[in-house]
Amino acid sequence: MQVVKKRGGSKSVKDSPLNWRKLTTLAIDIGGSGLKMMALDSRGNAVSERLRTPTPQPASPDKMLNILDEMKQHMPVFHRVSVGFPGVIKQGETLTAANLDKKWVGFPLEQTLEQKWGRPVRVCNDAAVQGYGAISGRGVELVLTLGTGVGSALYIDGRLCPGLELAHHPWRKGKTYEECIGRAALDKIGQKKWNRLVERAIAQTEALFNWDRLYIGGGNSRKLEIEARPEVTLIENEQGLTGGIALWQVAN
Ligand code: BGC
Repeated sequence: MQVVKKRGGSKSVKDSPLNWRKLTTLAIDIGGSGLKMMALDSRGNAVSERLRTPTPQPASPDKMLNILDEMKQHMPVFHRVSVGFPGVIKQGETLTAANLDKKWVGFPLEQTLEQKWGRPVRVCNDAAVQGYGAISGRGVELVLTLGTGVGSALYIDGRLCPGLELAHHPWRKGKTYEECIGRAALDKIGQKKWNRLVERAIAQTEALFNWDRLYIGGGNSRKLEIEARPEVTLIENEQGLTGGIALWQVAN
């Protein structure tokens, strides 16, 4: 964790050259349809506008990193970087990328950005980052994001259980959750049928995880027409960026 320590006891944290209270985090949300970027203060509040650029095709590391370089030019000075990425992450490497180019498999994203930009970088799954921006930190909480892919993140008393990939888990009639309720499925079967399937998927996750709270995000959550329940909350896309502050507050 990047915290500037008080030196020699004489200077207060406030006086130290790099005051942690003033650290700016560049938050990035890499998605199958858009790349988003925003600067955050140390509490996770926005201190810039939210930029969005469409994901290039092919969505290869080279092309996407060039776009991030360009977007960064429009951001204020920052001290560290948080990235939400749509795949499994281990030790800063992107191990899967179902909705991006295959060149992302095994790509050292954290290290590459650190070398390019000269700032510490933390990378985490996109749904997990969004969840950090939304959860209460109490009990069993599940986040589902309905976008190009289907994101999932599980927390127990605010601690992430990393690597949950419900998206590619077999579910109905030999199809995975993502094949049933991802963007391609919505386009194919239409909003009405898709809504019924999402309802069933929610019931399935409830039986599986016995969550206390469920958060639903992602661009397609706007198309949801399901019965309101106090324990189910719709969350904002912006939390996919603001949640990035948590990567500097939790053990990583
Ligand atoms: C990926 C997940 C990701 C989700 C949403 C899925 O295809 O496997 O890791 O969170 O899409 O982007």
